[in-house]
Amino acid sequence: MALLEIKDLTLRFGGLCAVNGLSLEIEENSIRSLIGPNGAGKTCVFNCLTGFYKPSSGDMLFQGKSLLNTKPHIITYGGMARTFQNLRLFKQLSVMENVMSGMHCRTSAGFSAAVFRTKGQQAEERRIREVAEECLDFVGIPDKKHYMAKNLPYGDQRRVEWARALATQPKLLLLDEPAAGLNKEEKARLIDLIARIRDERKITIFLIEHDMGLVMKISEKIFVIDYGIKIAEGSVKEVQDNPRVVEAYLGKEEQEDAV
Ligand SMILES: Nc1ncnc2c1ncn2[C@@H]1O[C@H](COP(=O)(O)OP(=O)(O)OP(=O)(O)O)[C@@H](O)[C@H]1O
Ligand SMILES: [Mg+2]
Repeated sequence: MALLEIKDLTLRFGGLCAVNGLSLEIEENSIRSLIGPNGAGKTCVFNCLTGFYKPSSGDMLFQGKSLLNTKPHIITYGGMARTFQNLRLFKQLSVMENVMSGMHCRTSAGFSAAVFRTKGQQAEERRIREVAEECLDFVGIPDKKHYMAKNLPYGDQRRVEWARALATQPKLLLLDEPAAGLNKEEKARLIDLIARIRDERKITIFLIEHDMGLVMKISEKIFVIDYGIKIAEGSVKEVQDNPRVVEAYLGKEEQEDAV
């Protein structure tokens, strides 16, 4: 059984069909990419998966269970985490607090326990801190946990977002354009990090990305969409050689690069 199965997913906004009968499967412990031109519907797919948008029709099965009518925090609790195309950190909070905020789905102590600081609540807070520290260490910014998020350079803010997603202890991690805005060196470290997330943590990765160099290096399989429709699926080579993909997407990128 695939970890994630998207079946005939359609999402309409009035007359616009942002996702159009999309079906795909993501196997456990794999690294998969979703590519396509601007406005192709990639982020909409993630928004459906994470419960932000309600699909017009179709289904999405995560570990065999339908995600339809499931609230975003329940989906997170079920083991799906994401990062956003545009950074969404709490800028006024510390790095540590941002990462810890990702973990409330894994905490059990209730509101009154938090107010009266029961022993159980203190033990839980210690555990949350440990996990958050460990995640910051893993993404490579162990020394900045008390900084305000807004005072970090952009590349490090991205890392905080990855740590926050990892802190939810997901089975599937959705990354929406994680390389956007990163320099060459940061991209190389990102490739290494994605591989480590999969290899060391056994977390399946589903990635949206425009940086073809990165996609080609890391993905074992790629799905290509255009106007919400899947136009190709296959290995890096198969997709690169597919005339439909070249026409809809890769060719355009090359033309833009040439400008
Ligand atoms: N909430 C919304 N209301 C109306 N239209 C929307 C909404 N969200 C997305 N769209 C439209 O759906 C289409 C797909 O958008 P989406 O953000 O999924 O594209 P994308 O493939 O992620 O593009 P990019 O590569 O630029 O991020 C676009 O035409 C977009 O304008
Ligand atoms: Mg997008």
